[in-house]
Amino acid sequence: MARPDQRAGGGMILVTGATGNVGRGIVGRLTAAGHKVRALTRNPDTVFDGAEVVVGDLDEPGTLRDLLTGVDTAYVMGLGPRVTEQVANVVRTAEGLRRIVLMSSLSVEPARGGVVARWHREAEDTVRRSGIPWTFLRPGVFTSNALQWAASIRAEGVVRSMTGDTPVAPIHPDDIAAVAVTALLSSGHEGRAYSLTGPERTTPSGQTRLLGELLERPLTFEEVPAEAAVRAMTAFGTSEEEAEESVRSLRQDGPFGTPLPTVHDLTGLAPRTFRDWASENLDAFR
Ligand SMILES: NC(=O)c1ccc[n+]([C@@H]2O[C@H](COP(=O)([O-])OP(=O)(O)OC[C@H]3O[C@@H](n4cnc5c(N)ncnc54)[C@H](OP(=O)(O)O)[C@@H]3O)[C@@H](O)[C@H]2O)c1
Repeated sequence: MARPDQRAGGGMILVTGATGNVGRGIVGRLTAAGHKVRALTRNPDTVFDGAEVVVGDLDEPGTLRDLLTGVDTAYVMGLGPRVTEQVANVVRTAEGLRRIVLMSSLSVEPARGGVVARWHREAEDTVRRSGIPWTFLRPGVFTSNALQWAASIRAEGVVRSMTGDTPVAPIHPDDIAAVAVTALLSSGHEGRAYSLTGPERTTPSGQTRLLGELLERPLTFEEVPAEAAVRAMTAFGTSEEEAEESVRSLRQDGPFGTPLPTVHDLTGLAPRTFRDWASENLDAFR
């Protein structure tokens, strides 16, 4: 674990995606520890105890200018095909930013990896070129991705997995938040890219069995055929070649299914399991 860095302790910290899976945990941890936080959202009705809520859109650089003034350190994320441009909008607008913790993805690590890997590689390059000291967070599959199954579980008791039954080591978003806060507040993380996973290897069918056990209700598991998963991606504008590559890499037993010790090594905390996350979020599936 790195040493606390007093210089980072006093400055304003911007959290983008503050209402999201990871961002809300970052805001909660920082405010609980008494840090000055600006929480970015597009929704002006958002309230965070102990944080300054700032309204802006990562796609609209003009909305970011004022709220980046005086920011010392930032957690930056972007979503989908817009991620590189969104990250660039923050990096170009921020003056005086002296530390950036970027949400990336474990998908950048294999030599290929499909469309998500390309988006995140480009975003990482944008930050590297900015000259701002950086730390990259490269998580694998989030436990919260299981929420994609919530509607079909509630309606039909069925899980349809777009990634087949490929092994995963799902990570709790709040464990990513704990790592982000460590990188935001302490020294020794500059120029480091952290691969992050949960502590246990499982499979979508194993996750389905566990959800059924917790819900006390039998669930059916179905693998979406690879061709149908490719068609679903091309329907959203991905080229056929990139969709095929993406589906292939998501169905390979590789880094996404290999538990790593990084969360514990960086935070000293025991990373939470899919069972932990599912127990906390069971109402979403009822
Ligand atoms: N899910 C996975 O398995 C996985 C794995 C590796 C990496 N990742 C990466 O993790 C990131 C997603 O993190 P997350 O799950 O914490 O995010 P999230 O919960 O999906 O979204 C975070 C927040 O982003 C805000 N947002 C959306 N569009 C915006 C815009 N144009 N301008 C400003 N804010 C906007 C929304 O807040 P408001 O509505 O309040 O504005 C939303 O609550 C992505 O970069 C993804 O590629 C995900």
